[in-house]
Amino acid sequence: MTDWYSFSRYLTAKRTVDDRALNRRVWQTLRDNLPRRNPLRVLEIGGGIGTMVERVAAWGLTESAIEYTLLDVEPENIAAAKARLSPPPPHFQMAFVTGDLLAFAEKQPVSARWDVLIAHAVLDLVDVRRAIPPLLSLLKPDGVFYFTLNFDGVTIFEPEIDAAFESLLMERYHRTMDQRVIAGKRAGESRMGRRLLSLLPQLGGEILAAGASDWVVFSGKNGYPADEAYFLHFIIETVRGALENDAAVDSEKLSAWAATRHAQIEDGTLIYIAHQLDIVGKRDF
Ligand SMILES: C[S@@+](CC[C@H](N)C(=O)[O-])C[C@H]1O[C@@H](n2cnc3c(N)ncnc32)[C@H](O)[C@@H]1O
Repeated sequence: MTDWYSFSRYLTAKRTVDDRALNRRVWQTLRDNLPRRNPLRVLEIGGGIGTMVERVAAWGLTESAIEYTLLDVEPENIAAAKARLSPPPPHFQMAFVTGDLLAFAEKQPVSARWDVLIAHAVLDLVDVRRAIPPLLSLLKPDGVFYFTLNFDGVTIFEPEIDAAFESLLMERYHRTMDQRVIAGKRAGESRMGRRLLSLLPQLGGEILAAGASDWVVFSGKNGYPADEAYFLHFIIETVRGALENDAAVDSEKLSAWAATRHAQIEDGTLIYIAHQLDIVGKRDF
């Protein structure tokens, strides 16, 4: 990716896409099951630059004051979050932690328990079989988890240009997620959404509600909303970058595909859909 591509701008641009996508029934179930405490202690893992904090405030999760801990492994994301959330929303007290979520979960004392645990667009990057038990043990016995935007293996680009080639691209792209290794260990998978539905109950979670939170991005009369054209360019580059060294993918065809999709963003004809699932629940142990 060239210098024009910034992960922090991508996360900022993603906010309006996520706002539309998040499943409102799952959100309402979260609200209905919040422990009645003031202040409410919220931990967000993989919180990036802090857009979920803004959403929790804007959507009025609770009347209580919030002690919000935002954790991310990337120091530059935490630096961006600190700048973005200064000052924090009213009634929020912020704590920022730079670190790996699993290491964090494993070293917390029992007394450091939270009312709400949020992981938004994160669990499909993680070895969940290993991470879920220590993460759930960070919750108080009546605490709730809110795991959102878990990718579930379907990526759609319209209009169709070369169906057979694009079908190969998507198969190979999803495969990179299934084979991802981080710090020498397998991490994440392309169908994490449905996987969590069966895994969570086995790993100590009781699911209270689940539902689709698909990204659906298209251009209206005034073009793409907010900075969503940038979001789309970033997605195309992510796919291209993931496959540029894949011997099963013809590199010239891949470049031509990316050029065509970028041009479609410029003229407002690209439509992008990604299937994802939101899940809310309680610890069950
Ligand atoms: C797709 S981004 C989503 C960020 C944010 N939740 C959002 O939606 O705007 C995934 C985030 O998880 C963080 N992350 C990935 N692996 C992590 C780990 N093992 N521990 C903590 N954070 C992690 C990344 O640095 C990144 O900020």
